[in-house]
Amino acid sequence: MFVIILITLIFSLHYEFCFCQCSHAEYEIHEQCCPMCVPGYHVHLHCTDDTTTTCVPCTPLTFIDEANGLTRCFPCTVCDAYQGLRVNKVCTRSSDTVCGPQKGFYCIYKKKGSCRLALQHSECSPGQYIKQAGTDSTDTVCADCTGDSYSNGSFSSCLPHTKCEALGLAETNPGTHSSDSECRDPPAVAVIVSVLIVTLILITVACVLIFKHSEENTIF
Ligand SMILES: *[C@@H]1O[C@H](CO)[C@@H](O)[C@H](O)[C@H]1NC(C)=O
Repeated sequence: MFVIILITLIFSLHYEFCFCQCSHAEYEIHEQCCPMCVPGYHVHLHCTDDTTTTCVPCTPLTFIDEANGLTRCFPCTVCDAYQGLRVNKVCTRSSDTVCGPQKGFYCIYKKKGSCRLALQHSECSPGQYIKQAGTDSTDTVCADCTGDSYSNGSFSSCLPHTKCEALGLAETNPGTHSSDSECRDPPAVAVIVSVLIVTLILITVACVLIFKHSEENTIF
């Protein structure tokens, strides 16, 4: 019991010792407390008894987003197109690049508000419709067509099959869940129409002949 108390005491003392040595806007170096550099700047020269810390700005394509006692800035994250990423916010001295998914991609792994890996939205198969379009963070949601309806996979809902009979047409191909039904003029109608046309032509020709004939009769 005594040992536990002793250990606890030492630990808490140690803890206090470490964190109370320098104030929170200072860092410890060579057993001395130096003022930290503000975000966007790194330490060029540590402070001495006579001088304060010398800070210099991060060079291009590097950053530090916290007050620090670091001698170098961190390299800016690169948004890799092969990971489905693009730049949402460019890197500044005091903030890292923020990557987001490319158009048509969704993020599957995020770190510190920046996307690290994105995948392409799934496509729906024929016979399915797009129930929910994909977003920056979610994949496409597909659902199957049911009943007398179809979708080629790119529709946002399944469309009802064309009813050939209701249009007075014959069905040549029944619809499936991925294709519409196909209609054609019923043969009976086609025959009637052709007979009518032929009859009309014959009547016209007959009229012309008769007319010519009577003209000739008149002359002679
Ligand atoms: C589905 O049909 C639409 C319009 O009919 C067409 O624009 C699209 O390219 C088709 N998609 C596929 C995957 O066949």
